[in-house]
Amino acid sequence: AGPGGNVAHVGVHCYSSTDLYNWKNEGVALAISKDPTSEITDGCIIERPKVLYNAKTKKYVMWFHLELKGQGYAAARCGIATSDTPAGPYTYLKSIRPDAGAWPLDVTDDDRKGKVARDFTTGQMARDMTLFQDDDGTAYLVASSEDNGKIHVSQLTDDYLGTPGKYVRALYWSEAPAVFKHDGRYYMIVSGCSGWAPNAATIGVASSMLGKWTSLGNPCRGEPGQLKTTFESQSTAVLPVAGQPDAFIFMGDRWRPDNAIDGRYVWLPIQFENGMPVLKWLPHWDLTVFPPAPASK
Ligand code: GAL
Repeated sequence: AGPGGNVAHVGVHCYSSTDLYNWKNEGVALAISKDPTSEITDGCIIERPKVLYNAKTKKYVMWFHLELKGQGYAAARCGIATSDTPAGPYTYLKSIRPDAGAWPLDVTDDDRKGKVARDFTTGQMARDMTLFQDDDGTAYLVASSEDNGKIHVSQLTDDYLGTPGKYVRALYWSEAPAVFKHDGRYYMIVSGCSGWAPNAATIGVASSMLGKWTSLGNPCRGEPGQLKTTFESQSTAVLPVAGQPDAFIFMGDRWRPDNAIDGRYVWLPIQFENGMPVLKWLPHWDLTVFPPAPASK
């Protein structure tokens, strides 16, 4: 409770559901450490944890935005932990800055003098982040880099425990990336950069994760105030509804930094208008808003 809740005192908590309506508390999946020398000691910052299942290693792999205790948002690292089961307990392995020693695939002459060059040896900054797993099992880290100036899309190694140095830059001055794939195209919803306060979202599209990303503008439809604040929320993930092709739920955070534990969620179905993903405010909705899944043969 209170502003003290903006740093980690417990760890990453897990809930599970079989229908998205009823939720079971699975407890703490990754516990912070009481050891003051640990990177995930009490008082560090852990944000936006995401988990993918790696079919080759049979491990659940968690990545999260890690800031080291007492350093504000300067460290800009990714924490990595693994578990044999989705709800954990996860074992903390290490933290990294992605893509150390590699130039982006779309490198420009400016990059060779700019922030990518500055962070070339240590690895690129990674703040707000998400993970995305493609149909062929290839996974990607998508993170705010270069002091939030650019989103980097980085391929993960086959074991999902690192980055082999294959990355591109996507949208500019963005945070809070949330990625999904629809109709063979990759979409990324992001926020602008205004800290805990909500702002207008942008949606980008690309024909491959490491391809060229193009902005399609604001995906929100509604009143100007709703468009300006993304329905008072900041994107955090897009959840594909299991078993229902083309059913996606936009998940956003309504932060309450003065009393962090009181933060809220906004979930809205992603709707498609002429193929363009859009978000509209619905005060009440359930899974029947999605087109019914085709009958199995
Ligand atoms: C937001 C970001 C949050 C958190 C916050 C800190 O812009 O999306 O994840 O880092 O800034 O001020």
